[in-house]
Amino acid sequence: MSTNDPSQTNGMILVVDDTIANLRLLIALLEAAGYSANGAADGETALMICENKPPELILLDVRMPEMDGFEVCHRLKLNEKTRNIPVIFISALDDVDDKVKGFEVGAVDYITKPFRSNEVLARVSSHISLFRMRQEIEQANIKLRELDKLKSLFIASMSHELRTPLNSIIGFSCILLQGISGELSPQQKDDVQRINRSGKHLLDLISEVIDISKIEAGRVEVSPQQVSLQELIQEAVDNMLPMAKEKNMVIKIRTDASPQIVTDHKYLLQCLLNLLSNAIKYSVQGTVQIHVHSENDHIQIAVEDNGIGISEENITRVFDAFERLENHIKLQAGGTGLGLYLTKKIVTELLQGKIDAKSQENVGSTFSLYIPHTLAARQVDTDELNQTESSRPL
Ligand SMILES: Nc1ncnc2c1ncn2[C@@H]1O[C@H](COP(=O)(O)OP(=O)(O)O)[C@@H](O)[C@H]1O
Ligand SMILES: [Mg+2]
Repeated sequence: MSTNDPSQTNGMILVVDDTIANLRLLIALLEAAGYSANGAADGETALMICENKPPELILLDVRMPEMDGFEVCHRLKLNEKTRNIPVIFISALDDVDDKVKGFEVGAVDYITKPFRSNEVLARVSSHISLFRMRQEIEQANIKLRELDKLKSLFIASMSHELRTPLNSIIGFSCILLQGISGELSPQQKDDVQRINRSGKHLLDLISEVIDISKIEAGRVEVSPQQVSLQELIQEAVDNMLPMAKEKNMVIKIRTDASPQIVTDHKYLLQCLLNLLSNAIKYSVQGTVQIHVHSENDHIQIAVEDNGIGISEENITRVFDAFERLENHIKLQAGGTGLGLYLTKKIVTELLQGKIDAKSQENVGSTFSLYIPHTLAARQVDTDELNQTESSRPL
């Protein structure tokens, strides 16, 4: 019935009413307000129009012969193509049951007969804007998901390109430092040491960013398996012994349980290595203790140090990305500020556990992992991003 071009109007509306006088009245009202309005006198015609040319809003009469408004609305909601079109019911005044049922079958609003023009236009306008906003958000979400996927793909594919030359920089600077290519002057040695340190720092940073991006993209495969906690902790300690020895520190394991658990060995090890490396890095001397405590539904693994500690106001910040607290040890300790952020992600998003930190400045810190006895297997998206990264201290 409309002759207007929908793109030039305030919105495209379908009016469905078996009373032709009502249909004419509503269409005239809507067109006068700048909308493009279409009419249908029965449910079948309405469904056909919606299928072929979905409007932005439907004004739907409840009482119609053959197919009533509820049935039309029900069918619209079953169809992927039409389910999101907002429906406003037209019902007789004070018919509370109709109104309630209308909302139950998916309507967004109702208008009572006899109409008041300004009320009809106010409701139509507000639902058209809501519909458009929702569509914009949906489009933006689709775009964001695409961009996020692209970002992850980009980072994953850059991984190899970045690591290869970096390994070369680190490897050859090591050869130079060992004097294999000839003795270096003290100044040259100092310069090459800087190159080596920066190379290693960059490699850590790249590895962490890649791990984080894979987890965020949901592209990490966890492999729950029987793990002997005692062996896993021993493996972590053995890995960290050289770093501890350099600072004359010892690592002690204190357990009241050494259970077999079902978890992802690689990722739990990665978390533990990170906590141990922090405990050593942020201590001047002393002992690092690992406590294992078994509860009904989880295992607590606590890494306790008597290092520099963290003040109460800073303790929550340590899990933020790129957060490195100001302290006298910061420069010498080196780091990226991503270790605990990544560890928290691994623990919560992959291992279905929790992490917390307790600390007192100049006394020491305890970081605890709470891991379920049995990690439930989950469906994963396997594709090119699922390359496995080796476990390493962060
Ligand atoms: N055991 C600890 N004792 C004191 N401070 C710590 C400890 N672990 C972490 N921190 C603080 O939290 C910050 C973030 O830790 P992390 O994310 O592992 O980053 P990084 O070790 O690369 O600096 C560290 O820079 C440090 O200031
Ligand atoms: Mg760290």
